[in-house]
Amino acid sequence: MNQTKRDIEKLLDIKTTEIEKIEKNKKLHEESVDITLPGRKHERGGTHPITLVLKKIEEIFLSLGFKIEEGPEVELDYYNFEALNIPKDHPARDDQDSFYINREILLRTHTSPVEIRVMEKQQPPVRMITIGRCYRRDAADSTHSPMFHQIEGLAVDKDITFGDLKGVLTVFVHRMFGEDRKVRFRPGYFPFTEPSAEVDVSCLLCHGKGCRACGYSGWLEIMGAGVTDPVVFKMVGYDPEKYSGFAFGMGAERIAMLKYGINDIRLFFENDLRFLKQF
Ligand code: DAH
Repeated sequence: MNQTKRDIEKLLDIKTTEIEKIEKNKKLHEESVDITLPGRKHERGGTHPITLVLKKIEEIFLSLGFKIEEGPEVELDYYNFEALNIPKDHPARDDQDSFYINREILLRTHTSPVEIRVMEKQQPPVRMITIGRCYRRDAADSTHSPMFHQIEGLAVDKDITFGDLKGVLTVFVHRMFGEDRKVRFRPGYFPFTEPSAEVDVSCLLCHGKGCRACGYSGWLEIMGAGVTDPVVFKMVGYDPEKYSGFAFGMGAERIAMLKYGINDIRLFFENDLRFLKQF
């Protein structure tokens, strides 16, 4: 009996080993890897066109001796409007329809409040730029977005004039768009500067002759600027008899659209790789 049992067990062992071997070979065959196939490529990310423009602007103003400052995106009404000479019922508020959190707090509508915050914490001379997101209750279309980026600049010192403003902004336009661009300062209105100007650059497409892109005027508006209003200096405790200054503010999306010939602001925020891969 025992001998028979051992014989059967031996036969079973042999058979099991045989089956295991067949299974293993089958698996090896099925799961074979062709190591000569090319691997899956990892897509390389790129720099967003807005970031490219902001970096370039930073570089230009740093080289001109400006410092980079920061301010909050959730801002007090006081800094966003009041201290910039835009009182509660002033019609200039209508241009910047806003996202209010309560009566005193809102999402900043421009980067100008950073000027006030910087002047409050230091005495002149001031040479600063600040870059950041701003928000306005605008419906999105090809030229509007409820969120956008601005670059703000401020210089305060003794004997600063409108001539300094023209010089600095002309250098900026030439470095940003090319030496052959012309710059024009048109009278404008901002409550926090006096005199104020709208700054235009000669059209990149028609070089000033007039075409569809520039509305046949030959010029494209790129920013607001002016000589800081003495009322603003009084708000921060600077003596307007002793100091003067200039300021400017521009939209990064607009600069990028002009620089790269982009006709719809929404392209910046839709994350379509076919668009983004071009930069
Ligand atoms: N804050 C203005 C706006 O968003 C732009 C601006 C105009 C800024 C004139 C300035 C300035 O600093 O001097 O419309």
